[in-house]
Amino acid sequence: MKIAVTSASGQLGSAIVRQLVKEIGSENVIGIARTPAKATHLGIEVRKGDYNDRSEFDQALQGVDRVMLLSGMDAPDQRIQQHRNVIEAAKLNGVQKIVYTSIVGAEENTAFSPVVQSNRQTEQDVRESGLQWVIGRNGIYIEPDLEYLDNYIKEGEIRNCAGEGKCAYTSRGELGYAYAQMLLNHEHNGQTYNLVGEPITQAQLADLMNQVFGTKLKFHSIPIEDYLEERKAELGDFIGTVIAGIYEGIRNGVNDVPSDFERAAGRSHKSALEMIKAFQNSLKH
Ligand SMILES: NC(=O)c1ccc[n+]([C@@H]2O[C@H](COP(=O)([O-])OP(=O)(O)OC[C@H]3O[C@@H](n4cnc5c(N)ncnc54)[C@H](OP(=O)(O)O)[C@@H]3O)[C@@H](O)[C@H]2O)c1
Repeated sequence: MKIAVTSASGQLGSAIVRQLVKEIGSENVIGIARTPAKATHLGIEVRKGDYNDRSEFDQALQGVDRVMLLSGMDAPDQRIQQHRNVIEAAKLNGVQKIVYTSIVGAEENTAFSPVVQSNRQTEQDVRESGLQWVIGRNGIYIEPDLEYLDNYIKEGEIRNCAGEGKCAYTSRGELGYAYAQMLLNHEHNGQTYNLVGEPITQAQLADLMNQVFGTKLKFHSIPIEDYLEERKAELGDFIGTVIAGIYEGIRNGVNDVPSDFERAAGRSHKSALEMIKAFQNSLKH
């Protein structure tokens, strides 16, 4: 059985590839990447696949039994067609099963909602594809917050607009494990899972980071409009708006969702403290 993973050069794609290699061996896993040279370190066959190019996926999915479709990174209106290129190429090649990385979040009323809506459209396209399917809705990764630690230390605080809202974070490592099980095991077919861990507030996140890194961070909640302006000034209009929309969603409770991780992965999700410690360990290696 051959399983192909798109965006294999990225951090989530490679986490899924590494777990699949452990379970079924490198000879049964194919990486598909827009930039194949960035995926050669995975030690598997790598094929070229840019989501914008349907013909590349017509080639890349030849002889593939199951495909892992990772959500693209472009503007929401472009993503829908990009994902359709993969779905259509999968149908053409007789791929039996597709697993898709969607996202938890507000479908309306935040600046992040257009991204969530585009993911919901692809969910529908996947369900209507005629292939066997499984959908994961990813929680927010915890790693970007941890990678931002030096900035938080400089600023002496974690500052955003999430207020008292809780966010059920996950990590790429946890997702890599769950998606491998969803690809391999038939009992997941036809399921849509929230792939998240325990919900925590930003104040709790600051406390846990202090515990692990010995910092003295405090959480400072600011109004949504102020945070939006700050993020746009630092990150540009598109990414700044998306980030502000994510924290607005957390404030509104949209990331405080029940977890299906244990059903998807067959084991419990790491706690937030365990994920932060795992990140710290990864810095040492
Ligand atoms: N839950 C969260 O908190 C969160 C945060 C960020 C992103 N995401 C989502 O998570 C997924 C990827 O995350 P990641 O951590 O792996 O990000 P990453 O490490 O930045 O990797 C992004 C990947 O997307 C690939 N890519 C970009 N445009 C492409 C295209 N047109 N065709 C094919 N591949 C393309 C990149 O390929 P190259 O190597 O060629 O650049 C790279 O492999 C995406 O679905 C993204 O929407 C979720």
